[in-house]
Amino acid sequence: MKKIILKSRPSGEVNAGVFQFCDEEVPALQKNQVLLQTRYLSVDPYMRNRMNNAESYIAPFMVDEVISGGGIGEVLESRHKDLSKGDLVSGTLPWQEMAVLGGDQVTKIPEHHHEMPTRYLGVLGLTGLTAYFGMLDIGRPKAGETVVISAAAGAVGSVAGQIAALKGCRVIGICGSEEKAMYLRGELKFYATINYKQFPNIRKELRKICPEKVDIYFDNVGGDISDAVFYQLNNFSRVVICGQIALYNLNRLSMGPRLFPQFLIHRTKLQGFIVHDFAARFAQAQQDLAVWLADGKINDRETIIDGFDNLPGAFLKLFSGDKIGKLLVRV
Ligand SMILES: NC(=O)c1ccc[n+]([C@@H]2O[C@H](COP(=O)([O-])OP(=O)(O)OC[C@H]3O[C@@H](n4cnc5c(N)ncnc54)[C@H](OP(=O)(O)O)[C@@H]3O)[C@@H](O)[C@H]2O)c1
Repeated sequence: MKKIILKSRPSGEVNAGVFQFCDEEVPALQKNQVLLQTRYLSVDPYMRNRMNNAESYIAPFMVDEVISGGGIGEVLESRHKDLSKGDLVSGTLPWQEMAVLGGDQVTKIPEHHHEMPTRYLGVLGLTGLTAYFGMLDIGRPKAGETVVISAAAGAVGSVAGQIAALKGCRVIGICGSEEKAMYLRGELKFYATINYKQFPNIRKELRKICPEKVDIYFDNVGGDISDAVFYQLNNFSRVVICGQIALYNLNRLSMGPRLFPQFLIHRTKLQGFIVHDFAARFAQAQQDLAVWLADGKINDRETIIDGFDNLPGAFLKLFSGDKIGKLLVRV
């Protein structure tokens, strides 16, 4: 069975050289364990931070050890009382073609979701939950407000924007291609978009699109894009610090520009959050998201890449932006 280990810690921009393929025997099954055939693995920006040996809310990956992340597996053999052959489960899976895990470490996917199990890694999984709690609990959108989302055509951003629209907000998405801009305005009914690669002066574009200024900024990227949005904030605005992907490959963070006067003048509230803080409310949020999906109030898009061998390349696409919606690998 193939697995992928972290061969070395990246310095600066991550590249495929940090991943190494190895072979391993499948261990024998113990009581309460299941043998899984890995079906899908999720690639996520936070995994880049786990490659650094730095303090965070989650432990770093260890060099020479297997990488792990969100995944879906099919039970091939079970010695756990609640799981049987053929069940689909989601959880944190090692980047391996097969895995032996404790049955309590994974969550069974209900049979009525077997047709689209990947939603448990996307809109019904941690990315959808991140959008839900970041927007509703931290952004607290009110009808008529203007909301800006960065990485808006990504897994979290696309759901966050649709939730704000559901609450009656005008949603502006910042994204990195015309295809993404068309998707946001066409399929997801965003009010407006800014393709930052075509129109790098985001501050000017925002002044044109929303002279009434920005009430909520849902920040997925940080860096220059966020600085530009900060200049357009409204009084009593909220900034949801969800992610900072534009900074994840930097060895050293830049110290400027210092925009705190903007937050002071406009009485802005900035808050970072980690989705796991809301774990006690995941079930209710998943139910809300599932109903919105079923009613067609929100849509989701997946980019699925085939083949375990393509996992490293898929991971790099998070940084090149070469995909729309939730990025997954089918094993
Ligand atoms: N707080 C939490 O608990 C939590 C949980 C999950 C995710 N997150 C964060 O949420 C953010 C989005 O995650 P996701 O899984 O939904 O990823 P994603 O948005 O599906 O993929 C990342 C996107 O970021 C954009 N991007 C990459 N490098 C960039 C750069 N240098 N400057 C500007 N944009 C860049 C690209 O889109 P464009 O083509 O549009 O540039 C890319 O498609 C990440 O920052 C992640 O760390 C936070």
